[in-house]
Amino acid sequence: SIVRRSSVPGVSSVSRRGFASGSAPERKVAVLGAAGGIGQPLSLLMKLNPLVSRLALYDIAGTPGVAADVSHINTRSEVAGFAGEEQLGQALEGADVVIIPAGVPRKPGMTRDDLFNINAGIVKSLCTAIAKYCPHALVNMISNPVNSTVPIAAEVFKKAGTYDEKRLFGVTTLDVVRAKTFYAGKARANVADVNVPVVGGHAGITILPLFSQATPTANLSDEEIEALTKRTQDGGTEVVEAKAGKGSATLSMAYAGAIFADACLKGLNGVPDVVECSFVQSNVTELPFFASKVRLGKNGVEEVLGLGQLTDYEKKGLEALKPELLSSIEKGIKFANAN
Ligand code: NAI
Repeated sequence: SIVRRSSVPGVSSVSRRGFASGSAPERKVAVLGAAGGIGQPLSLLMKLNPLVSRLALYDIAGTPGVAADVSHINTRSEVAGFAGEEQLGQALEGADVVIIPAGVPRKPGMTRDDLFNINAGIVKSLCTAIAKYCPHALVNMISNPVNSTVPIAAEVFKKAGTYDEKRLFGVTTLDVVRAKTFYAGKARANVADVNVPVVGGHAGITILPLFSQATPTANLSDEEIEALTKRTQDGGTEVVEAKAGKGSATLSMAYAGAIFADACLKGLNGVPDVVECSFVQSNVTELPFFASKVRLGKNGVEEVLGLGQLTDYEKKGLEALKPELLSSIEKGIKFANAN
């Protein structure tokens, strides 16, 4: 559950007022795109997180209402809404973690890459502001196409002289969440006990769940593994089609985004052995960015973990995803340097 009363060792689990103890460190979280389909439930979930002391909700419009609403919830964090570019600096100042679900979502028939033209520019301008106002924050990039927006962010930060590869994350947690849910169903395992690493990137075949490493183990046939793999890769599209023009995953994405931000906060706070999959700068393959298990710590990425043993099916999937992932990465880098 993400609503832990206290995730910090040695901190009493419930304080007198029923909130997380005041001795958890002060942490400011900023959500950029907070009035959107993901942004609103994500803001709610971050308001429920006792590790957050200040919550800044930013969007081009609509955030005063979201902030007023969320601020009435009787949990630890103080909430403030910021609307319009002239308030972006204030929203970012002092942030420890910045979560970015800003930008347009898919409609039926669209790939994540179809969003590039609009979202690349949004991400670039938001990251320019992050470099200026909170260069040390951990950045959780949700805006699609993640395979390109993370490289764009890296280039923007490099140009500003603030790039730290340990602090930039593409959020792929929803792929893990889906893989866990679908696997639990097929393996008849308790979903709360299930773990599945998902590596590669965050679009179509670049999403590579490693069901051979799933726990608890189950004896699934090759056909079942293949079906699970496809369903995980197409999970986003399943939602886009069901929503029939009204956008893509928002509620499950907010959940996944909240899980990942919570892991970042725990890492910052020195909680040991916090491991999540994320799309980060990487030496795991020859690609400059790659999603794999990452150990989180006080400076962000503490260690990028390797792939472990792969089956032949997974090895084939890995080789198949590399050209697409590389071209999405290069597209992002090119955009950032041309504009
Ligand atoms: P939405 O359209 O409901 O909300 C987007 C919000 O971003 C809007 O409130 C809009 O005003 C805001 N926005 C636009 N330009 C902005 C700017 N310059 N600064 C700040 N805010 C700005 O879209 P939704 O459904 O919330 O999706 C957001 C993004 O998340 C999309 O790019 C979508 O593809 C992506 N996504 C990523 C997933 C992942 O697994 N990483 C999963 C699902 C969606």
